[in-house]
Amino acid sequence: MKILLLTRPMPAEPFARAITALAPGHDIVEFRSGLDARALADVDVVLGWQMPPGLAARMPKLRWVCAVAAGVDKLLVEDLPGTVPVSRIVDVEQAEGIAQFVVLMALRHARALPMYEAQQRERSWRRQPVAAVRSRVTVLGTGAMGSVVLKLLAAVGFEARGWSRGSAEPLEAVLATSDIVVCALPLTAQTQGILDARAFAAMPRGAYLVNVARGGHVVEPDLIAAVRSGQLAGAALDVQRNEPMAPDDPLWDVPGITITPHIAAQPSTATIAAQFVEGLERLERGALPGQTIDRERGY
Ligand code: OXD
Repeated sequence: MKILLLTRPMPAEPFARAITALAPGHDIVEFRSGLDARALADVDVVLGWQMPPGLAARMPKLRWVCAVAAGVDKLLVEDLPGTVPVSRIVDVEQAEGIAQFVVLMALRHARALPMYEAQQRERSWRRQPVAAVRSRVTVLGTGAMGSVVLKLLAAVGFEARGWSRGSAEPLEAVLATSDIVVCALPLTAQTQGILDARAFAAMPRGAYLVNVARGGHVVEPDLIAAVRSGQLAGAALDVQRNEPMAPDDPLWDVPGITITPHIAAQPSTATIAAQFVEGLERLERGALPGQTIDRERGY
């Protein structure tokens, strides 16, 4: 089969090597701008992170798109025919890594670590003890990631509950009783910008946000305003609307906002290659690859 690797900003080479080691003989092409029409005309499958606009329409034989990630939002472009199945990677270790990151950030906030870090910078040995915290944490999104995050939060003593778009309780009511809100939602037309000024106003004063989903869930100017005004105590953003963030992005300078460069946890190259090769084998047998998403729902 002819495979197009669209893994940028991750290098394609390790993926090509891992796939070839498991399933030699496929024709693997790395995407570069200027790839001519002939090279694209017979592409069977794409393994990637992001589909550049207009590219899908130039691959008339495309039979499958497999994400190199848990989220597929950057691959669901308008010109990708609805009949092409799209799969994601499901990696238990990644979910556990994300859960660890969330617990780290939730505890860091709830146990007032930033205050002690500030005291250390001032060489100030001042006790302001924090009791064991039982903060109410709501995890938005209860899928493969969210459910693992919920378990680990509960295990360290938080009062954790999940919310998804199908939940009976309206989002604002849930936010109103959350000391910490964790975003683990898929990014779809319905969840784009879901964390906006209204959502932040609904949270109790001094609440905290952890985003391990997509930057597009958060209206960043609204978040900055909410943190600067003290409505939110801060936020831990592992994902941002513009990745990589430009040096002059206003998010960098907001006291209380912690930025990490989309590192909470990624699926390993070995896991991606193994799940991709399994999908190729299914495709060769005329079956549907595994872990396909619902194109209508977008996840
Ligand atoms: C993601 C991932 O979808 O890193 O963000 O897998």
